[in-house]
Amino acid sequence: MANISETAVKNIGNVLNDPSRPMKERFRALFTLRNIGGETAINCISKCFNDDSVLLKHELAYCLGQMQDKIAIPILRNVLENKNQDPIVRHEAGEALGAIGDPNLLEILEKYQNDPAIEVAETCQIALQRLNWVRYESNENLSKSKFLSIDPAPPSSEENVESLRSTMMDETESLFERYRAMFSLRNLGTTESINALGEGFKASSALFRHEVAFIFGQMQDERSIPFLKQTLEDIKEHEMVRHEAAEALGSIATDECVEVLKRYLNDPRPVVRESCEVALDMSEYENSPEFQYANTLVTVES
Ligand SMILES: [Fe+2]
Ligand SMILES: [Fe+2]
Repeated sequence: MANISETAVKNIGNVLNDPSRPMKERFRALFTLRNIGGETAINCISKCFNDDSVLLKHELAYCLGQMQDKIAIPILRNVLENKNQDPIVRHEAGEALGAIGDPNLLEILEKYQNDPAIEVAETCQIALQRLNWVRYESNENLSKSKFLSIDPAPPSSEENVESLRSTMMDETESLFERYRAMFSLRNLGTTESINALGEGFKASSALFRHEVAFIFGQMQDERSIPFLKQTLEDIKEHEMVRHEAAEALGSIATDECVEVLKRYLNDPRPVVRESCEVALDMSEYENSPEFQYANTLVTVES
């Protein structure tokens, strides 16, 4: 996306920042801005951190991290430091800082590794270990991921499903090592590895469980549906985990997924019901001949 005018980018930013637009349109605008990249797109994204939607704001932070542009660092720092932001949003800002991976971030991540919000604390612990890994060990020869995401942890060097499963479920291990096992299981993509990942929903950390759901969304594999369904249906589960399960079901997009998502469109928790709305939009895309999910550019220009 090279030759896009400032005005076109700003128009997409206006869609993102317009609270009267449906959430699914604002999400499409956000992903379009992420794909365009650059300063104007980043400014449009940052303006939206005063919005009421926790779901949208956490996704802003996620996208800024994936863009890996250092100009987003001050914005993400502010979000992480702002205790008025929901822990889900602050968690994503911490993770995004880890994804950008600048060594100057050690100090701020250390400061929040014991934050009273457990989602934030655990995220910063993982991000710190990732920073150190990038610095000292990242030349390891590890399994390649076909996913284009910048993950909070690299895969481990282990490839045996049973030992990966046992490391992943070992509550005495650091979350970073457990995440490494999780990403290796994702990269294997077999029935055994998917079942092992599904067991991850029994882990005590909500952050950990939300990552399992996120990974299932990336894999888009029907074999994970029973796990995701059970997670979304569990109204006692943390809303961050249910949100991620909903979006994963949206990207798998079978009839069964659509049926479950429709049932939670009026969930009492805004994060969950908005996720179902966005997920149903994603599943419409998955089942349609449209070329690209994040197609706001086409819509705004036509
Ligand atoms: Fe997250
Ligand atoms: Fe999320």
